Amino acid sequence: MIINTDIVIIGSGISALQTAKLLAKKYDVHIVTKNHIKNGSSYKAQGGIAAVTSSEDNIRFHIEDTFVAGLHHHDVENVIKLVKEGKQTVQQLINDHFPIDCAPDGSILLGLEGAHSKPRIIHSGGDATGKALVNFLVDSLPENVIIHEYELAYELLINDDGECIGVKTKSFEDHITYLASYVIVATGGVGALYEYTSNCSDSFGDGIALSYLAGAEIADMEFIQFHPSLIYLDGKTHGLVSEAVRGAGGYFVDENGNRIMERVHPLADLAPRHITAYEMYKHRTNGHEVYIDISNIEHFEEKFPTITNICKVIGIDLSNQRIPIAPGSHFLMGGIVSDVYGRTNIPRLLAIGEAACTGVHGANRLASNSLLECITFGKLMAEHLLNNGSRQNNYTIRKIDNKSSNIPKLMQPSVLQKEMFLKAGIVREKKALTDLIEQLPAYEEFANVNFDALDRRTIEQLFMHITASLIVQGAFTREESRGSHIRNDFPSINEDWQNKWIIFKQGKLHV
Ligand code: SIN
Repeated sequence: MIINTDIVIIGSGISALQTAKLLAKKYDVHIVTKNHIKNGSSYKAQGGIAAVTSSEDNIRFHIEDTFVAGLHHHDVENVIKLVKEGKQTVQQLINDHFPIDCAPDGSILLGLEGAHSKPRIIHSGGDATGKALVNFLVDSLPENVIIHEYELAYELLINDDGECIGVKTKSFEDHITYLASYVIVATGGVGALYEYTSNCSDSFGDGIALSYLAGAEIADMEFIQFHPSLIYLDGKTHGLVSEAVRGAGGYFVDENGNRIMERVHPLADLAPRHITAYEMYKHRTNGHEVYIDISNIEHFEEKFPTITNICKVIGIDLSNQRIPIAPGSHFLMGGIVSDVYGRTNIPRLLAIGEAACTGVHGANRLASNSLLECITFGKLMAEHLLNNGSRQNNYTIRKIDNKSSNIPKLMQPSVLQKEMFLKAGIVREKKALTDLIEQLPAYEEFANVNFDALDRRTIEQLFMHITASLIVQGAFTREESRGSHIRNDFPSINEDWQNKWIIFKQGKLHV
């Protein structure tokens, strides 16, 4: 089946929905998503949206907090744009009646999260901001936005001028080809490459893999943020204990009730995530159990209904006043290199949200800046296309020779996830990374694979290996510890690496 349209968006999280809603003023939009529309990581987001709304706060403070958390590995202009435009975009969301949590006097209830110097997190439904925002945006989509669920995008189409002209997808029954003036990749991050993750279980970075195969530049893949507190029971993780819990008075303890963070960092339990995640990892590796003590928080169940519900479902008794946790993968700072309008090095291919790398998160994202990025850059991208978009006329597909039906040797997903956690996880070092590089396929082994012939499961498995190999090679190359990238063998920040991006394109790596 062939569908001709104006715009195709791959992915259905908050950046996809925000962009689609605004683009629909002028364009027909098709959203293609490989699962149910409410299955993505956006839907699970607990924390909220960071933005300057209070008179006690200031844009400069928010910008500075972003730089400090991200260890100054940023695109400075893009950070300024995010925070300034973000303030307006959040105001617009409030004007549009997005239901945010307010005090009885009508003032906005602002949460505090790690590495924020002021309370500035807006939330909805307590710890259900992602769910509330997805529902709000889905409900406001007009009729000319058509959603295709359970369709896996597997190949971008490029014309003989080098522009992106569409995408091929597979549903469970059909092959579909979309031809469009613009393709937007909004497939989120790569959390599910790791054994423990707060993301949904199929976040493999598909959009990053298929953009890389089409010739897009991919950067900063070594910067994976690990969250210190995933709910942990019987060897498995089950979503987050939001940092907002610590903002409300919760704290890390070991099995004997000893506080863990007090002597580690001046911000203690609200230290930046790479520090708290690393501490939890060390404690667990040394044979301890780790918990969030919630005894200081009054009305916990009311304030944190999502966490309460997860605990109830899996059988954690909150009357013990502590929740067992483990650290796990949470957010990718890297991705498809793009500007604040989503433009990549491939004309008419755009990227947004966690799949994109605009340099706003540096080496470690400031908490709750991601939903801000989704709504703000979604708005900027949509406005840019509404004002400057043009129709594609050349649908002559670039000729590709030598498509191969051979696929490289692939690990089982659970094996790869364990290997990634062990060897390219919270702490890395040369030997383990070298081992993993040897197990993962080289570019030449997957560059010419004929995806048409593969089933969905194999395609996703191959995408996992492609994104994993970018992470591992980036982690191997960056010989320093900065933010979320911690190397045992290079334990300090090396100023020579400051603001150097490791960029991959067509099998080559540039620094
Ligand atoms: C959290 O709720 O702890 C996560 C928020 C975020 O990652 O921005």
